[in-house]
Amino acid sequence: MELITEHPILGADCFKRGETVEFTFDGAGMKGYAGQPIAMALHANGVQIYRVTPEMGRPRGFFCAIGKCSSCFMVVDGVPNVRTCITPLEAGMKVETQHGKGRMALLPEKEV
Ligand code: FES
Repeated sequence: MELITEHPILGADCFKRGETVEFTFDGAGMKGYAGQPIAMALHANGVQIYRVTPEMGRPRGFFCAIGKCSSCFMVVDGVPNVRTCITPLEAGMKVETQHGKGRMALLPEKEV
């Protein structure tokens, strides 16, 4: 999947990109541009499912893409519930599919 590089209305400044960086998604190596939203980097790598709902186990991906819903929640560097549509990509990030409500990696699991 490729990103658009020009648009008849938007100016060239909209398409400036950071340096190419490497990150992982569920353990698989991927590349993106530093500073672009994590979700956009995943989308460009063919990833469309970012989390699985807690109650029904349904897959979710982009919805609003402006940080106003919770559809793109993922676990980033061990932190759950990160809105990946508005979080800039950095080199070496460890991005994971979020299953359910998410759990902090450093906190002990709580029995319910
Ligand atoms: S897609 Fe809605 S907050 Fe990210």
